[in-house]
Amino acid sequence: MVCFVRTETVLEYRRKAPGKRTEYTMDYRILTVQAEGMLETEPWYVAAFSNISSLIMNTLPDLNWAGFYLMRDGRLVVGPFQGKPACVHIAPGKGVCGTAVLRNETVVVPDVHLFPGHIACDGASESEIVIPVRENGEVRAVLDIDSPVKDRFTPEDRAGLETLVRAIEKQVKWD
Ligand code: SME
Repeated sequence: MVCFVRTETVLEYRRKAPGKRTEYTMDYRILTVQAEGMLETEPWYVAAFSNISSLIMNTLPDLNWAGFYLMRDGRLVVGPFQGKPACVHIAPGKGVCGTAVLRNETVVVPDVHLFPGHIACDGASESEIVIPVRENGEVRAVLDIDSPVKDRFTPEDRAGLETLVRAIEKQVKWD
């Protein structure tokens, strides 16, 4: 059985310079369709979030961490991810992830060093985006993506990743 994602269809690179954001054309519809296929094959959140983390890590340039934190007993617990080992528990209101939970909205941080209370799991991180994943309006998880490049996440990235999360919310099975 062949089991791979054609990540090369997603990106068209224009330029790559160390320390600078890679300019690229990202077709988030393709990314979303690929994630929907994964969810269709297996909607259980552990399997789906594992492969979606890998999909994000292998398609978006300039990332050092991509994955999910799950709401469990009133706090976030690390879930499926790609990247270095991360802090396990995050309370609502703490760090970028906990702030996204408390506000129940996407948080984009262009420079993590300027974000009060940022939790540094990987010293390489310079910018971050966190998007709540909801069930009936309630936050069940967050999608957390870190980059070693400052100001990595554009409004287009935010909109594209929010579309991806909306697709996840439609199909995912939480147990
Ligand atoms: N930076 C996050 C913690 C999780 S790691 O980035 C994987 C935060 O401030 O919530």
